[in-house]
Amino acid sequence: MTAQIVTLTINGLHVSGLASETILQIARENDIYIPTLCYLEGLSAHGSCRLCMVEIAGQAKLQPSCVTRIQEGMAVTTHTEQLLHYRRNIIELLFSERNHVCSVCVSNGHCELQDLAREHEVDHVNFTYLYPSLPVDASHSRFVLDHNRCILCTRCVRVCGEIEGAHTWDVKNRGIQSLIIADFDTPWGVSETCTSCGKCVHVCPTGALTEKGKSVAEMLKKRPSLPYLVLNRTMERR
Ligand code: FES
Repeated sequence: MTAQIVTLTINGLHVSGLASETILQIARENDIYIPTLCYLEGLSAHGSCRLCMVEIAGQAKLQPSCVTRIQEGMAVTTHTEQLLHYRRNIIELLFSERNHVCSVCVSNGHCELQDLAREHEVDHVNFTYLYPSLPVDASHSRFVLDHNRCILCTRCVRVCGEIEGAHTWDVKNRGIQSLIIADFDTPWGVSETCTSCGKCVHVCPTGALTEKGKSVAEMLKKRPSLPYLVLNRTMERR
């Protein structure tokens, strides 16, 4: 069976790809930037943060580009005043939901949420801060989970299940009450499934998952290893 080639436009540029590809994939292949947060190449797309929303001509609703497949004749727009407004709102809501205090964060200067805020010129938050009382799990010998800085992107859940194969992480509760948990909600340090590989720490976009012993702004994430791991696992399956 031959793969179906689809042609479309993104920001007026004629592009093409396989029918199985998403708008985000085609945009990246053509050096068209769309902001993302929950998406990470190599992991399944989750479509939860909504930062990658785009406009599609003829469709009333905005669509998340990381999970929307391309279609013949689609006309996609990635940057409009409305999209920028919504993206700013999403970033502000993420800051207001938990306790992101950048000035004392180990990931200060190396945080994807902070980078997106800067890119979208978010210099204050228009929503009421919730200041939830959230725990820090420092029970693991090498790593720390700080729920105050978690944005629930679930990259950690997906990398642990899909790449490491341990499935230590999961999410409990719903909506604003959601929390990342290890195993059946045990302290990370006594988890029976965690292999201490550190993949979750390095895919985390913020300072929610970090290495122990890091001071303010010291935590650098090592992301480039992910495509290599994905390739190795694919070769193993052959
Ligand atoms: Fe597409 Fe988060 S990157 S919804």
